[in-house]
Amino acid sequence: MRECRCRHETVGKFSKGESEMKRSLRLKLLSQGVILLFSAASAYMTLAAETNKVDVYKSPACGCCSQWVEHMQKNGFAVEIHNVRNVTPFRERFGVPESVASCHTAVVGGYAIEGHVPAADVKRLLREKPKATGIAVPGMAVGSPGMEQGSGKDPYNVVLFNATGRNTVYSAH
Ligand code: CU
Ligand code: CU
Repeated sequence: MRECRCRHETVGKFSKGESEMKRSLRLKLLSQGVILLFSAASAYMTLAAETNKVDVYKSPACGCCSQWVEHMQKNGFAVEIHNVRNVTPFRERFGVPESVASCHTAVVGGYAIEGHVPAADVKRLLREKPKATGIAVPGMAVGSPGMEQGSGKDPYNVVLFNATGRNTVYSAH
């Protein structure tokens, strides 16, 4: 009789212990799931923040460059300004050919943005993600964002380029 009770107690204890183990395992799995969900959400948020962030390399004396920065900010981009004496080495670093050069160079979401590119074209680029180095408005087109001069407007193209200098028209303005 005594032996029997003892065994029952042991079995009881054991089964209780087992269910506790299962419960704690379930909790552990649950908390791991929550952690996984949180890290996925934060990774997504970091990605969103990164594609929203534009690094601009420009001369501190460039007025039209600052106007373009304002245009980008007004269109929801977080702009980090890098005032540099010479933009050329940055153009080279980001794979912008001299044939499409303008006054400033920018980088967003892994793409190079050269010159007075409208924010709408940058947004389209980030949405469509074409295989390219970036987009540019070569030179200084009057009437492009940051280059407004009264009612004056030069027709201009935004070109999609790659490092080998192959350009295609991305949009016409
Ligand atoms: Cu300019
Ligand atoms: Cu500029």
